Amino acid sequence: MDVIKVGIIGCGVISQTYIRDIRELYQESGGVRLELAACGDVDMEKAQECAEKYHIPEYGLPEALLKKEDLQILINLTPPRFHFELNKQILEAGKHLFCEKPFALTTEQAAELKALAEKKNLKIGSAPDTFLGAGLSRSRYLLDMGVIGKPLYVTANMMSYGVETWHPSPAQFYRSSAGPLYDMGPYYLTALAVMLGPVESIQAVSGTGFSERMAYCGSSEGKAFPVETPTYYAALLRMKNGVLVNLTVSFDIWKSGLPFMEIYGQEGTLCVPDPNMSEGMPVWNRKEDILNKVLPPEHTMPSVSMPTEEMLKEYYPSTDEYTRGSGVLDLAYAIVSREENRAGAKLAVHVTEAINGIMQAARSGEIYHMRTECSRPAPLKKGLQPGKIA
Ligand SMILES: NC(=O)c1ccc[n+]([C@@H]2O[C@H](COP(=O)([O-])OP(=O)(O)OC[C@H]3O[C@@H](n4cnc5c(N)ncnc54)[C@H](O)[C@@H]3O)[C@@H](O)[C@H]2O)c1
Repeated sequence: MDVIKVGIIGCGVISQTYIRDIRELYQESGGVRLELAACGDVDMEKAQECAEKYHIPEYGLPEALLKKEDLQILINLTPPRFHFELNKQILEAGKHLFCEKPFALTTEQAAELKALAEKKNLKIGSAPDTFLGAGLSRSRYLLDMGVIGKPLYVTANMMSYGVETWHPSPAQFYRSSAGPLYDMGPYYLTALAVMLGPVESIQAVSGTGFSERMAYCGSSEGKAFPVETPTYYAALLRMKNGVLVNLTVSFDIWKSGLPFMEIYGQEGTLCVPDPNMSEGMPVWNRKEDILNKVLPPEHTMPSVSMPTEEMLKEYYPSTDEYTRGSGVLDLAYAIVSREENRAGAKLAVHVTEAINGIMQAARSGEIYHMRTECSRPAPLKKGLQPGKIA
């Protein structure tokens, strides 16, 4: 068994999910095992509290973790505005990097990180890795086996009322270099690239529904804070394979009945579960379901044999709905096997460019033409146990 020692930098809200899932679900696969050896934070009290609560052997300031020779992967779980600088420091320190989303704020930053990793012969992994979960794996399997025929169009909708009812520091999500597109866009854009391949061009509009918002929990509860970023984006994407996507990402919506993602094909419709979650069962309908209601009996179409829900659960077993860390195990496996990791640098750079492309198209009113590409990552093998990636 190859043991890869891992350190976490940023002991905030999501670190707890990472620690739980790396220990309980995504700890070991294909002869590679993750060992959570250290945690760090600019706030030493937080680092200490995290180490004590989760029995992590060492803790310290980020600089101390960067210098620890035994750590091979550092996971960056700091707020987005610190990602680029810390990612750079992690790579410069000779560590493989796994970063929470967004990987970087600009396309140039993302490309610089990828080039630096290549120069230093290091690997990059980045969230979202939820496409390795059962919900999106089952959806991808159905799409690739032709359940809806040739895909034509997609509607994807991240409609939410924001983070201020649950996140203890919500103001950071509404700063000028933040907003729903950086925060939630990566889940949808990654899912689209994984299922359909790269984005080719983008048109978009944006809006800001509220100039001020209110914190409903945490230390700033009851306090208003300003909104410095668009909180509604409506984008039209043309994928390189010709599929047209209607994507909406917003923190301004109290309630919506729109699906997270529906893919419309020549032979049917596939409704994809929430790209932010690891678990979920896709729902699909075939053209025969519609046509056989109107066709005369002698012309009814034979129904096409499709996998049942039970089969899909066997192929891609269920986990908890909300998990994090599969991409870290995927990265560790890639380091040892010298294969390409699925939630890797090319995908992260392409998604970062798509986010920036949507912003630029909304600002300029012009079509944004993508410069980067990515290939679809290899799907998970059918029939692996929950939490296994190889
Ligand atoms: N909260 C969630 O549910 C959630 C879910 C998925 C992804 N994420 C992503 O995870 C990241 C962290 O989110 P969070 O909600 O845990 O944030 P958070 O604000 O709860 O915690 C961030 C932690 O990072 C520390 N920190 C800040 N700057 C630092 C630096 N330069 N070096 C080291 N530590 C530093 C802070 O002290 C804090 O403890 C973000 O990229 C976010 O988009 C969060």
